Amino acid sequence: MTLFLFICRIACIIKHCVIMGRLDGKVIVLSAGAQGIGRAAAIAFAKEGAQVTATDINGEKLKELDGHPGIKTKVVDVTKKDQVEALAKEFDHIDVLFNVAGFVHHGSILDCEEADWDFTMNVNVRSMYLMSRAFLPKMLAKKSGNIINMASVASSIKGVVNRCVYSTSKAAVIGLTKSIAADFLEQGIRCNCICPGTVDTPSLRGRIQAQPDPEQALKDFMARQKTGRMCTAEEVAHLCVYLASDESAYVTGTEHIIDGGWRL
Ligand SMILES: NC(=O)c1ccc[n+]([C@@H]2O[C@H](COP(=O)([O-])OP(=O)(O)OC[C@H]3O[C@@H](n4cnc5c(N)ncnc54)[C@H](O)[C@@H]3O)[C@@H](O)[C@H]2O)c1
Repeated sequence: MTLFLFICRIACIIKHCVIMGRLDGKVIVLSAGAQGIGRAAAIAFAKEGAQVTATDINGEKLKELDGHPGIKTKVVDVTKKDQVEALAKEFDHIDVLFNVAGFVHHGSILDCEEADWDFTMNVNVRSMYLMSRAFLPKMLAKKSGNIINMASVASSIKGVVNRCVYSTSKAAVIGLTKSIAADFLEQGIRCNCICPGTVDTPSLRGRIQAQPDPEQALKDFMARQKTGRMCTAEEVAHLCVYLASDESAYVTGTEHIIDGGWRL
């Protein structure tokens, strides 16, 4: 009997340590999976046992995830209603929708032409409206669902120089998040957003390179990091896993800041 109990205990430990992931069996769809935070999150979700569909407009980059265990890829432009609706039709149910896609426009309000304004609001906010509207009915049918939106500390949280329309769009993401959380709380849906500071991603490196003096631009970015370093995409992905998992079951309508104290 003692041996039997011992074997059961070992089997239990192995099951927990080796097989059980924090997101076992969860169906997760995310945007902007080709690089940066979206890619890191897709990999982290899959590692925890989720069935991930990583979407992006950049098919070439997205291909790098092909064959990764637990991850399917699909080219989707999240600003196109027909593409978003076609994506949603492929799913009988979904546990987590992670809206990541975003674009950073550089400049004050005087540098921001109407086209810049419309483009940024379209990619950063309207895309989340489209994705959430397409997937929410599937969550409501199950009375269970979880939406995570990518916002930023550059928003209603902190005024940041040369981030006018970007910050405006991310403040809207915070508003959208709280609104969805309030409207559907009693139907088993929760909605939270993530507000990073400076995360070392390919697009951040690209923005630095695009400056007239990239070396100085990098120094300026580093000077504002109170921790002496930038956040990594993997560190943001840890927070994403927590929010996607049942560990955060009582958490909704909140903005989760991960900025190494930049806003302080
Ligand atoms: N990197 C940072 O410092 C930082 C800080 C705060 C918030 N964020 C936010 O995190 C998110 C991801 O940023 P990142 O730096 O990891 O990503 P990134 O800019 O490196 O990658 C963005 C991805 O979005 C995809 N994309 C762009 N437009 C799209 C569209 N219409 N449809 C589908 N995909 C589209 C791109 O192809 C790209 O793969 C963004 O919303 C960004 O605003 C980033």
